[in-house]
Amino acid sequence: MPDQVTVRAHAKINLSLEVLGRRSDGYHELVSVMQLIDLADVLVLRRSTQLLIRSSDPSLEGPDNLAWKAAELLRADAGDSSGCSIRLSKRIPRAAGLGGGSSDAASTLSGLNRLWGTGASCRSLQRLALGLGSDVPFFLYGGTALIEGRGERVTRIVEPAPAWYALVNPRIDVSTAEVFAELREDEWTSGAETRAVARRIGTSERVAVGVNALQSPLFRLAPDARRCFERVRALAPGEVFISGSGPTIVCRCSSATEARKTEAGLAGSGYWTAVAKSCAVAGWRAPCG
Ligand code: C5P
Repeated sequence: MPDQVTVRAHAKINLSLEVLGRRSDGYHELVSVMQLIDLADVLVLRRSTQLLIRSSDPSLEGPDNLAWKAAELLRADAGDSSGCSIRLSKRIPRAAGLGGGSSDAASTLSGLNRLWGTGASCRSLQRLALGLGSDVPFFLYGGTALIEGRGERVTRIVEPAPAWYALVNPRIDVSTAEVFAELREDEWTSGAETRAVARRIGTSERVAVGVNALQSPLFRLAPDARRCFERVRALAPGEVFISGSGPTIVCRCSSATEARKTEAGLAGSGYWTAVAKSCAVAGWRAPCG
């Protein structure tokens, strides 16, 4: 067994997201197409006698971190007392709709499964992942996937051609729970548009993306997010939409050059920006990939 495992934890964007309704457990029933992108955190997991987490962002150190919780959960599930030190280099902005914390948690599960030789199956990792958060199961697969239920039903889709995105985060603090709570019943839809994206995205047809039921609730809660969105939309030639519960704005671009040009148009704005490319599983073999 290795003494150290390094895992990349990639971000995601939601190419389409519809909410079908509210469930009896308080969560919402979703249909979404998620796409892994090459923006990634890096986690170095090392054997240790206890659990420890150090991060390039010190506010993320401690037992509230989802990666820490993932380690505790896997250890408890295996009836084990192994420890590990986690060194987390953070590149994905937090609370951004890009799934950074969820991806860190999924990568910790799969990385520790190797480091500790736990031997947990994809199915048990999925169960643990859902206990950590609705977005976590997707990151055990990566690539492009149709997401259903609360987030636990993940169906891989044939990889579409590589795509480029410019990402803009207006650095506004709104929690996922607040955005879901702001969603109105008249904003629930059938999921048909998202399913059509899932069916056609791997084909040679150009498919329009960017439906997001959570976009209007986010804008009602955070008018500054709408202002940033309008500014970005005036700059970007392709579709512009919010990822997940936001506030990150995604611009779909036809090339790396177009993505860099869109990003350059926001220089000096004070927003966090990045250029990202769609990717499959890069860097490590996803346990359910
Ligand atoms: O699952 P997770 O802890 O990431 O979800 C955060 C919050 O987002 C939940 O407490 C819930 O309010 C909301 N949510 C939801 N329906 C989902 C996923 C999240 O209502 N499918």
